Amino acid sequence: MQIVSISSLKGGVGKSSVTLGLASAALEAGIPTLVIDLDPHADASTALGVRAQPSQDIGSILRKPKKGAVSKITVPSSWTKHPITPETSTPAIASTAQASDSGHGPVGDDAPTGGASVGSASVVTNADTPTSGAPGRDHSNKSSGATTEGTEQATTPQNSPVRPVLDVAPGSASSSHLDRSTFKVKDLKRLETILQGVDKYELVLIDCPPSLTALTRMAWAASHKVLSVAEPSLFSVAGTKRTMTAIAQFDVSKLWAVPAAGVIINRAREDFSEHSHRIAELHELFGDLVVQPTIPDAPVMQQIQGAAWPVHKWPGEQATDLAARFSTILNGLLT
Ligand SMILES: Nc1ncnc2c1ncn2[C@@H]1O[C@H](COP(=O)(O)OP(=O)(O)O)[C@@H](O)[C@H]1O
Ligand SMILES: [Mg+2]
Repeated sequence: MQIVSISSLKGGVGKSSVTLGLASAALEAGIPTLVIDLDPHADASTALGVRAQPSQDIGSILRKPKKGAVSKITVPSSWTKHPITPETSTPAIASTAQASDSGHGPVGDDAPTGGASVGSASVVTNADTPTSGAPGRDHSNKSSGATTEGTEQATTPQNSPVRPVLDVAPGSASSSHLDRSTFKVKDLKRLETILQGVDKYELVLIDCPPSLTALTRMAWAASHKVLSVAEPSLFSVAGTKRTMTAIAQFDVSKLWAVPAAGVIINRAREDFSEHSHRIAELHELFGDLVVQPTIPDAPVMQQIQGAAWPVHKWPGEQATDLAARFSTILNGLLT
């Protein structure tokens, strides 16, 4: 199981967007994936079509962390539950009441008319899903996925005979009790503990809050890799330097190995000389740690998130290009 934190000390640079793009790439590739939404704003949960029920969110189980307890709150993303290709979608206008800050519905020139309804997406607890078995430890053996998929298939007929696994540990404001700058070493173990023994997934993506508080640090402590998201702007480059320095210093306690770090450049515009300058600066500062390819500034991203759809299923050239970029980045992460 590969655990990857998506981090940045700055808000609004695209942490949740990168998390969602990678989750979409994993879904497309059939990689059983869990997205943990550590940000109290819960944007990733919203875009993945889930909303936490009281006490069924990541903040609640982190209060008294028990081994493997994340499985108690994971729910399937609506991306896996709805017919999600334009050919199979039924007309249902997605509610954007909760969805991101795009403020627009999903209907665009070439946008599908159907999609996940954020407002109606329900959170299903594990009592309702056949995910509580104890799958084997061999990650190349997808027996856990097969069991889950087989049972779901019987209850929810879909065009595809095999249901991919994309689960969410939903976020909510309740995780803000850990969004604090003072913490003890035991706090940093909280996330690691609730993930212990969980082997249903090949990939875990953690969407972090824009801070260096206990939440972000417990994510790093549990992770094999940390991706720092940067925009090609002066302030974001400065924020990335601080983030990367903080990751490098993370082994001070000697309790954790420093997770491997990378920098993802998001919202790049080729036609903008300031961006080219800042991208060159990021390469100079971080060399091989800069992940290829960069993610362009693409307005369709906001439309896709507003509709709570995966980018890999959205039609049009811009979405296809974005999807290919996220798939390439995911491949690099998993090798
Ligand atoms: N590559 C991109 N192209 C266009 N809009 C983007 C891109 N990346 C992010 N955005 C938009 O920018 C805003 C902030 O992104 P978000 O992922 O929420 O950042 P963060 O999680 O770091 O706060 C959102 O409205 C999102 O849709
Ligand atoms: Mg976010």
